[in-house]
Amino acid sequence: MEVVIQPTAEALAPLAADAVEHLLAARPDAVLGLATGSSPLAVYDELVRRHQAGRISFARARAFMLDEYVGLPADHPERYRNVIDRDFAARVDFAPGAVRGPDGSAADLRAACADYEAAIAAAGGVDLQILGIGTDGHIAFNEPGSSLASRTRIKTLTAQTRRDNARFFGGDPGAVPRHCLTQGLATIMSARHLVLLAAGTSKAEAVHHLVEGAVSAMWPATIMQHHPHATVLLDDAAASRLQLAGYFRQVYEAKPDWQRL
Ligand code: GLP
Repeated sequence: MEVVIQPTAEALAPLAADAVEHLLAARPDAVLGLATGSSPLAVYDELVRRHQAGRISFARARAFMLDEYVGLPADHPERYRNVIDRDFAARVDFAPGAVRGPDGSAADLRAACADYEAAIAAAGGVDLQILGIGTDGHIAFNEPGSSLASRTRIKTLTAQTRRDNARFFGGDPGAVPRHCLTQGLATIMSARHLVLLAAGTSKAEAVHHLVEGAVSAMWPATIMQHHPHATVLLDDAAASRLQLAGYFRQVYEAKPDWQRL
């Protein structure tokens, strides 16, 4: 796991965007993994800027989302499929149908989860997965207690996550759906490069566990310690509880330019 600590949150997005740009330069038909939440927003803005500047095209790329609420109407503004269109996909040149998410309004949710796994596999798997982290250590919607071997399935959101996400639902945790479909931890681990962004002190405890804690279903993101190519991009505040912060800074300062993330 490579941990990169920057003084401000603003410094993180260009690093993640660089990784996407290099990937698409090498493989224009790459498969991206897209996260919702506030953490990746600046990355998407940076990718849009680079697209508008003619540096990046998504015309041959495909993308898979991490998760989706169950039961929100198709036109609900907080349905993740709509969120990702608004924040990113519709602002660049993805081909129609190139961005997919789990179908949280399917009549048969289990079949929708199996279909989603099959679609990711048929696309050849995800090349680069962008991730955020919940304050309780969840990635996608794999809440504490999630099987470390899980695949896409239905999950029940914790009260903490519903409180955290209430800001998108008029401040009312009760308005946040109880259930979601989410890629499992094993699904996420199948991606070839994981790039997680975290900023702010509210993420410091989860980041401490992610980087330095024991691998445990209680802090689901810790499974990333088993990934051969995981990059964790942090601002100083999110890194404030890391015992090895000084070492991570030294490593990054000494990183050869050619190595990239
Ligand atoms: C949400 C999403 C996750 C996201 C996390 C953190 O519930 N399902 O994919 O990473 O919580 O969100 P944020 O980046 O807004 O803090």
